[in-house]
Amino acid sequence: MACFFRRSVALQLAKACGVSEDLFIPLISAVPVSKKQSAADLRVSVNRLLQSGAVAADDGDLQTKTQALANQMKRDAVVEEVIAGRGVIHFRLNKLVLAQKLLEQLRSEPDGFGVNSELLRHLRGGRTLVEFSSPNIAKKFHAGHLRSTIIGNFIANLKKALGKEVIRVNYLGDWGMQFGLLGAGFERSGSQEKLRTQPLEHLFEVYVQVNREAECDESVRSAGAEFFRRLERREDQALALWRQFRQITVDEYKRIYQRLGVHFDHYSGEASHHSQTQSVLDELMTRGLLKTTEKGTGVVDLSGAGDMSSYATLVRSDGTSLYITRDVAAALDRKQRFGFDEMIYVTDKSQTSHFKQLFHILRAMGHQWAERCVHVAFGLVQGMSTRRGEVVFLEDVLEEARSRMLNNMTQSSTSKVLEEPEQTAERIGISALIIQDFKGPLMSDYKFDWDKVLQAHGDTGVFLQYTHARLCSLLRRHASETHSCCDVSPLVDSRSVSVLQHLLRYDEVLLQSANELQPRHLVNFLMTLSHLVASAHRELPVKGSSAAVAQARLCLFSAVRSVLANGMRILGITPVEKM
Ligand code: ARG
Repeated sequence: MACFFRRSVALQLAKACGVSEDLFIPLISAVPVSKKQSAADLRVSVNRLLQSGAVAADDGDLQTKTQALANQMKRDAVVEEVIAGRGVIHFRLNKLVLAQKLLEQLRSEPDGFGVNSELLRHLRGGRTLVEFSSPNIAKKFHAGHLRSTIIGNFIANLKKALGKEVIRVNYLGDWGMQFGLLGAGFERSGSQEKLRTQPLEHLFEVYVQVNREAECDESVRSAGAEFFRRLERREDQALALWRQFRQITVDEYKRIYQRLGVHFDHYSGEASHHSQTQSVLDELMTRGLLKTTEKGTGVVDLSGAGDMSSYATLVRSDGTSLYITRDVAAALDRKQRFGFDEMIYVTDKSQTSHFKQLFHILRAMGHQWAERCVHVAFGLVQGMSTRRGEVVFLEDVLEEARSRMLNNMTQSSTSKVLEEPEQTAERIGISALIIQDFKGPLMSDYKFDWDKVLQAHGDTGVFLQYTHARLCSLLRRHASETHSCCDVSPLVDSRSVSVLQHLLRYDEVLLQSANELQPRHLVNFLMTLSHLVASAHRELPVKGSSAAVAQARLCLFSAVRSVLANGMRILGITPVEKM
């Protein structure tokens, strides 16, 4: 609906410039609500009009042009005032129309608000494959895997909300020499009993121990190598054990991801593509891309100049494949199976050059679609630990978030008696983790601090949830008065107007988040919305106001609640209704 207003302005600009109004839609933006009350609601930069070709460039200076264009604009029922600034034209909207249109749409189609905007139409359709989380069996689930999980989930949610078909893939580290050691280790010291009761812990324990032993004991190393050979030969017994490790791990992760509110459509892994690596190598060979070095390794030249100043190794001298070989096979297989239009990989920045190489190889093989493969990289988190010490298991993080949050909640006097305090605490704790992680640019490293993360004030997930829960409680209390909002005339005070002006930006924020694949734009939007609605809530009482005023305010609060909830869900946060 923000587009209703953009379109009104675009129509005027189109008339003045004699070109199609559609050209102007993406160039008109909502003025951010800053502390000082801004009179204008929408604006357009004249430089951008010139750059886009919407306005013909000539020798005239920018200011004269701005002024001339502004003078040509007509005021109407929607646009009340046109103001020429420095190279910018500001538009002031009729505030009653603003309230009417926004609230009308939010009431009739709350879930389509923003996401269905005309501004985002070009993003609709197509199929996106998002690969994320991707932990390694028997190894620790570190903070990087947690970041990949929540960032990937956000990207998948956002793409879905904007109208794409999304395929969520978890690519497990389930193949490689380490499975030889793990298998041999399990044959030495594993317990089926423990594997049933504490699967992830037990596999990790066996893995750590066998690695320690292998360091000083040659016989353990050769037992590992032998077990891996049995796996490669697909020997039944070895394979059955490997399958059991994998199945148990997937089942456990499914359960834990559910607590986080994350799901996958496919669990694949390196092993599923291991058998396809030979045909990849054959194809590379046929295309003359794979060269054998003096050391006997198989490499692909990535230098561009043909001088091997940079290259990727795809075959070891013993003929076995590597991580990148399996990634090439996996990408080809996914393209064939899922026919995606774009594919997004989410991992920490240490794998940036790996993905550059991968995309390079795919392009060299003649796959145009490699241009639409993206690696979303993120920085490192330092100092994330739980009472069990450094993070090894995802579930420990969830437990820690829950128990710390529960503790904070029982200490705060405002906390009501909740039906499911544990679940609420967990949801809020997870929100807090997500917001902390999404606040800055993904590439930044940050230092993790539980106390800071779980603060109730400031721009935290707890504050976001608190704002949402307070709106829910207000709406619950006045459920009988919340009818359709017909008369918006009480909503012209500065608090209400700021909230409405801010809502006007939602689709732009979604667009920016989608273009950059960065959650911070949406986080900032929701934080500002929460602050604005918190002060509106303080100063615009419902109780004790006349029926008309109460109803208009409730209508505004209910609209904000739904935008907050929808925005939170895109971030991967489950909004709580009581806390
Ligand atoms: N399992 C890998 C790790 O933990 C991440 C996998 C990333 N995805 C990929 N297609 N290589 O580092």
